[in-house]
Amino acid sequence: MPLVAVTYVKGRSGATTTALGLAAVAPSRVRPVVVECDPAGGDLMYRLDLAATPSLVDLAAAARGATDAQGALAAGQQALGVGDAAVPVVVAPAGGTQTRAALPELTGIGASVLTTSDRLVVADCGRLAPGSPVWPLLPLADVVLVMARARTDEVAHLREYLAELVDVNAGQLALLLAASYPVAEVASVLTTHIAEELAAASDSIGVLGPLPVDGKAAAVLGGEMVAGRRWRRLPLMRAYTDLLDDLALLQVAGPEAADARREAS
Ligand SMILES: Nc1ncnc2c1ncn2[C@@H]1O[C@H](COP(=O)(O)OP(=O)(O)OP(=O)(O)O)[C@@H](O)[C@H]1O
Ligand SMILES: [Mg+2]
Repeated sequence: MPLVAVTYVKGRSGATTTALGLAAVAPSRVRPVVVECDPAGGDLMYRLDLAATPSLVDLAAAARGATDAQGALAAGQQALGVGDAAVPVVVAPAGGTQTRAALPELTGIGASVLTTSDRLVVADCGRLAPGSPVWPLLPLADVVLVMARARTDEVAHLREYLAELVDVNAGQLALLLAASYPVAEVASVLTTHIAEELAAASDSIGVLGPLPVDGKAAAVLGGEMVAGRRWRRLPLMRAYTDLLDDLALLQVAGPEAADARREAS
């Protein structure tokens, strides 16, 4: 099953909401799990009123030398429901120190807990900063979704990171626009930059979205509102469902593809 990394380079683009939303709308057969990997610390524990333990710290401890990714994930996850969907979550303590210590355990040589399970793992990687301990996670991901808001300054910041992101050699790299923006224009700016200045294939990055502004769905995913019976019909939930379909994510080969990329990088 695939590993999806959700990240952003500037602003609060909705990465945490998207990580949770993608897992919430994923088919139950893929047994999604959200793992908070944001080096700045987790939000979901407080937002969704979850317990302090188990957490990413327990996942990292269980991952040490683990051969059983299932067991390690089970050791770190807490039950969460969004409407009728089960969305287990591995929360990270607020603050970030423990996340920054745990990340190398989850992404180092031989670590495979995030990539070898037969579940869809959605990692909330927070903001990508130079030297962030989350960079080593990206080559392991089948899909890296880099979120940006509808502002030219954010796209400019993203350009600064493109060379590194393209080099990361993730399975599929896509820019996910957080709110309405002329998608074709952004796509053209970025693909021209990639082709002309980075001398890389212009299809190294796809452009997806924009996601709709949907306060209701965001409030459901943010723990401020209980999901109604028709929660899957909310515009943002539909957009997440379409996104999973577009990425053809759930057909991607998991461990083998990740292993091949790990060896290549
Ligand atoms: N599509 C959306 N429509 C409306 N509100 C949204 C949407 N996506 C996210 N939000 C709201 O925007 C705020 C920031 O979202 P979120 O916490 O997911 O961002 P983030 O990128 O993870 O930020 P952080 O830097 O805190 O990690 C939250 O209040 C969330 O409810
Ligand atoms: Mg966040």
